[in-house]
Order: sequence, then structure tokens, then C-alpha cells
Amino acid sequence: MVKSVLLICFFTLLLIEASSQEAVQGFIGDSAVLPCHPGKQLTVITVHWRYNDWKNVYDIQNGKGMTKEQDPEYKGRTETFPTEYSNGNFSLKLRNLQKGDEGSYCCFIPEFGRNDCVNLQIKEKPRGIQEKPGSNGGVETTAERIVSLLISLFSITVLLCM
Ligand SMILES: *[C@@H]1O[C@H](CO)[C@@H](O)[C@H](O)[C@H]1NC(C)=O
Repeated sequence: MVKSVLLICFFTLLLIEASSQEAVQGFIGDSAVLPCHPGKQLTVITVHWRYNDWKNVYDIQNGKGMTKEQDPEYKGRTETFPTEYSNGNFSLKLRNLQKGDEGSYCCFIPEFGRNDCVNLQIKEKPRGIQEKPGSNGGVETTAERIVSLLISLFSITVLLCM
């Protein structure tokens, strides 16, 4: 009995861990905005966007967006928002999404030694549905789903304890 309760607690923790990375969904051919807003002002505006921890997607160096060292895969498909830098918003827009773009995108901020990651999921565009102008590909808050999952898990735990 105690064992199964412990097991459930373990999986609950696993689930919380897995869900702590923000997820963004995009459709093939559309664009998506990958959020990066540490919420603090930087004195030196330098931010590195990387794919799966190593591929160079985009660099912001001393307040300037740079694509010089960018992996060719992202050529002409990336954009950040310089007017937003001063708000501490270093979000990256990725256009013309492909299935191969799926994965983890991290914005590394040397000043804070901080790495914020977002998981990009690419889906086939449903037929007949067009991208709304200005739509950002649907930033998905997985929070709701996670919460309902957690609630059911906790009810099971409580039931087992009684
Ligand atoms: C950051 O800037 C982008 C582009 O303007 C915008 O879509 C996004 O909502 C902004 N994020 C925050 C937290 O302000």
C-alpha cells in the first residue's frame, strides 16, 4: 500500500518536472514566437538562442540582432524584436516552420547565467484552417491539462491512503 502511494508520488513529481518546460505549438509553414522574457533589465543586452543546446539559431550581441554565426537552417526565418529588448523581452520569431524544427529552444543570458528553454512542437496544418494574421502559432498553456492530470493523480493518492 505504502509502496503504491510512493510510486504515485514519484510519477507525480516526474510529471511536474516534465511540464515545467514551456511548450509552444506551431503548424508546418506557419510561424511561432518562442518566449524569452527573464523579467529583469540587462545592462549588457546579450542573449544567445540555441536549438537543442548547441545549434546557433540567433544571437543578440550588445543590443543588436545578429545572424552571422547562425546555422544555415534558420537563414531568413528568424526575427527578434529590438523595440522589446528594453522591456526584457528577447522572444524569437521563427517563420516557415518545418517538422525538423521540433525540439528545445533555449535563450541563454550570460549576465544572469540563465538558460530558459521552450519546447517547440510542430503539427500538420489542419485542412481548411488558415493562419490568422498576427497569430503567433498558438502558444499553448499546458498548465490546464497538467492541473487536471494532477488533480486525478492526487485523488487516486488520497483514495489509496484511506
Ligand atoms: C515580446 O514581444 C513579442 C513581439 O512583439 C510579443 O509577441 C510578446 O507578447 C512579448 N512578450 C511579452 C511578455 O511582453
